[in-house]
Amino acid sequence: MTNKTLDSILLEGRVFPPPAAFTARARIRPADHERLLAEAQRDHEGFWGRLARETLAWHKPFTVTLDGADAPNFRWFTDGEINAAYNCLDVHLKERPDKTAIIFESEPGEVRALSYRELAAQVCRLANALKADGIGAGDRVVIYMPMVPEAVIAMLACARIGAVHSVVFGGFSAHSLRNRIEDAGARVLITADGSHRAGKLVELKAAADEALAQGCASVGKLIVLRHAGNRVDMRPGRDVWWSDAVAGQPDHCAPVFVPSEHPLFLLYTSGSTGRPKGIQHATAGFLLGAKLTTLWAFDLRDDDVFWCTADIGWVTGHTYVTYGPLAAGATVVMYEGAPVHPDAGRFWDICQRHGVTIFYTAPTAIRALMKHGEDIPARYDLSKIRLLGSVGEPINPEAWIWYQHNIGRGRCPIVDTWWQTETGATLIAPLPGVVPTKPGSCTLPLPGIDAAIVDDDGNEVTDPNRGGFLVIRKPWPSMLRTIWGDNARYLSTYWARFGNRYYVAGDTAHRDRDGYFWVMGRADDVLKVSGHRLGTAEIESAFVANPRVAEAAVVGRPHEIKGEAIFAYVVMKGARPTGAQAGALAAELREWVARELGAIARPDDIRFADNLPKTRSGKIMRRLLRAIARGEAITEDVSTLENPAILEQLRGEG
Ligand code: WTA
Repeated sequence: MTNKTLDSILLEGRVFPPPAAFTARARIRPADHERLLAEAQRDHEGFWGRLARETLAWHKPFTVTLDGADAPNFRWFTDGEINAAYNCLDVHLKERPDKTAIIFESEPGEVRALSYRELAAQVCRLANALKADGIGAGDRVVIYMPMVPEAVIAMLACARIGAVHSVVFGGFSAHSLRNRIEDAGARVLITADGSHRAGKLVELKAAADEALAQGCASVGKLIVLRHAGNRVDMRPGRDVWWSDAVAGQPDHCAPVFVPSEHPLFLLYTSGSTGRPKGIQHATAGFLLGAKLTTLWAFDLRDDDVFWCTADIGWVTGHTYVTYGPLAAGATVVMYEGAPVHPDAGRFWDICQRHGVTIFYTAPTAIRALMKHGEDIPARYDLSKIRLLGSVGEPINPEAWIWYQHNIGRGRCPIVDTWWQTETGATLIAPLPGVVPTKPGSCTLPLPGIDAAIVDDDGNEVTDPNRGGFLVIRKPWPSMLRTIWGDNARYLSTYWARFGNRYYVAGDTAHRDRDGYFWVMGRADDVLKVSGHRLGTAEIESAFVANPRVAEAAVVGRPHEIKGEAIFAYVVMKGARPTGAQAGALAAELREWVARELGAIARPDDIRFADNLPKTRSGKIMRRLLRAIARGEAITEDVSTLENPAILEQLRGEG
């Protein structure tokens, strides 16, 4: 982390106590918080055991709360049996079957609402269709869908029968989709004809066809939802329309109760090596984290209309569109399209029309909308909103204050939630009725979460001016269980660094005098571009997959809206392109990478060089490249560089 960011964050001294009116009605008030903290402190296992019993509906109660026999492959609630779809649907059907579960709005403006009864019926019909295809407990199903209710239905249909879903973000390319399908060994792929995004058509079925044409031998069935209405090719015997698959299927399907540790889903995410890793979550622990944090951090109540803008393809969509709010019986909003379509008022228009009370989004969206000026949100009635949330990257104080002022109108607490695909649910966030907030800080760990900052040797850092690695010292129920098919990588990525003592998040952070956490960013080669997690190694391998590219190094540089931008140094085979040729080639390579990985990975800057600066042992000097990309002074020893003139080239001056 640079001193500049540390300094700027330390200068941020504003404190916002929870609004008294909010605290008065909050689910968790200061005394409750004290009680929870003390309970967790006294008996970590007992605390989680009690909450698991009280929060979830069990088919068979557990007697073992935490099993650490194979630590750090922890197991929770091991001898219990449960079903996640049952917890999200059936438990609500007796008391409030007609409550709205999902309010959906497509980008062109179609609005559909589904009650819990209707949602349950659709989940059961698809679950029966999957069963008819021989899909059962443990089989993997890949979901490559737009933000439509059927994406949630597909997830819950898998959960209903114990199948393991793996949702692949609809913005990923055919190539990325194929890699994930093959790694998961999926038997079924569920997709849609297409989706609407920023006024354009995204052809999901065509990408699915391309992925399957490249391999994916395990996939025997492709279920296609008709959504955008575009023409698609259906391959007889393999492809079936969703409507045909569920036609005639009963709207009842007995849930398959699975052991607590049965995998609920895999979700692929980027790490510091090229291959994305399938983060594996367990049914009961994940569900507990999702539901409990929805209740705690968002203070969810029965009359709330909850809108988390995240796509279902990311963990935030899993935890706070599907499992958390539905397990809590909430009404959730789903929106298919882009925040600026047809204009930058779309989010606020949706909030106004559907009476959104809790709004949860990413700093990148806030910064993008901020650019369009305050008079846009000012045109909308946002008086129903009572809580705002932020997730995915550090929120800069300026965006925080804008959000609070222009969207929250000074009335709403802002809950900055720190967590990861791996943690399953929010771990560090202010309880909105209890913890005073500071713009840019995710504040304090939730009860039961033992977070700390440690130095290179694993010793806790207590000096408020010093940063270090963010670690979690005790296991928690919604933690990842392993990396699909690669437990060695699970151990080396998350545990080895400090001898298996702590879960290592991969973020750097520091705590201030009040113990508040300030997350600075990633400690590894992972970028956060518009809140999307991308590995630099992944982007580099996309570059070198181009037959004309010899070598590439990718780093991040700060970007006003995206948070981070992708900056690539590229060595071509043959002579280094210059002038107009370099411009044309850069444009071509940008498209190449976007095609290989998906548009979210399209590089912002490309700079050509004769070679890359390396250490004597042949490692690319990334810190040097980062400094150059950021226009910072070079503090490295560059005397060992083979070709010192390379520096000018890298700076774009050569
Ligand atoms: C970053 C998203 C600062 C962090 C839920 C983490 C944050 C990575 C915050 C995980 C926050 C997430 N403040 N940084 N409130 N939330 N991050 O897996 O670097 O897509 O390690 O999960 O996002 O990204 P992922």
